[in-house]
Amino acid sequence: MSTLVLGIESSCDETAASVVRDGREVLSNIIATQIPWHKAYGGVVPEIASRKHLEFINPVIRKALDDAGVTLDDIGAVAVTYGPGLVGALLVGLSAAKALAYSRNLPLVGVNHIEGHIYANFLAHQDLEAPLVCLTVSGGHTTLLYIEEMGDYTIIGQTRDDAAGEAFDKVSRVLGLGYPGGPAVEKAAQTGNPNAFRFPKALHGELDFSFSGLKTAVINTFHNAGQKGEELNINDLAASFQESVVEVLTEKTMLAAEKKNAKNILLSGGVASNERLREVLTAACKDAHKTLYFPPKVLCTDNAAMIACAGFYRLKKGNIAKWDLNADPRLGL
Ligand code: KG4
Ligand code: ZN
Repeated sequence: MSTLVLGIESSCDETAASVVRDGREVLSNIIATQIPWHKAYGGVVPEIASRKHLEFINPVIRKALDDAGVTLDDIGAVAVTYGPGLVGALLVGLSAAKALAYSRNLPLVGVNHIEGHIYANFLAHQDLEAPLVCLTVSGGHTTLLYIEEMGDYTIIGQTRDDAAGEAFDKVSRVLGLGYPGGPAVEKAAQTGNPNAFRFPKALHGELDFSFSGLKTAVINTFHNAGQKGEELNINDLAASFQESVVEVLTEKTMLAAEKKNAKNILLSGGVASNERLREVLTAACKDAHKTLYFPPKVLCTDNAAMIACAGFYRLKKGNIAKWDLNADPRLGL
């Protein structure tokens, strides 16, 4: 018999719910984005995020059930993100999940948001097999993982300061390109020259990342030109910044795969929707005779299908949460 898992995600600025069959088949994937409300501030405002989640959570869950053509009677478990993320935002999804699971006598499964991003690849590529090296790049994380077998993750590299997505967001804000920064910088970069500026790349030869120096160099270039009254091509600056990030991410991912002797490489998280990153990493993997997997864009950025998928595999292992499960803003893998 198949199991339908209702996934719920509210860790940042997307309220999402999804119904997934047996951790593989996405029956619905509803995402209510809050971008219009945060745009004016150039970033996510936690208080606004919590309030919008409260407003959206019930209609989003209702629509996820309707779109899947099911009712709560058909659901076998409720999986929910309980960290990492914004505490007030996480609490909304978690409370909704607990209320549903408790009232329906269903198992509640707590899911780590980062683990969800990794599992997005399992929704898209059903034959994936460990051992794997996985690069997870989002607004809050830049992590290289070695996955010896599913559920067994070792962090082999991570950022010491800004996450890659965070650097995109901050650079975008200064350059006046808008929020969220990743897609805005990518768009500007399309008509820019990636070799117009050379920026420093930190921690060469290591698996850890550092993006704060690069971010500052880009911002300083912009401000210095402004102070001197010099013309500066924003698209060139965006393209050169993006190229530096892509080069660093690619170099370290390939180094990790080489060190771990892993043939398969996964890319996940919001920044994984960047076309230039996909292109450069694909080429590097081809040269090294490795296989790269990444999810479709809708499963790269925050969604609840990935949470339902990860939840299904946790459920199979008997990993059921207690009713006192709490939001953990700094939850580690
Ligand atoms: O995974 P995600 O939706 O949320 C977090 O868990 O953080 O990732 C959001 C991040 C943001 O920083 C956003 O600017 C970045 O992913 N992002 C991108 C692109 N699309 C989203 N960065 C670069 N290029 C993109 N196309
Ligand atoms: Zn995320």
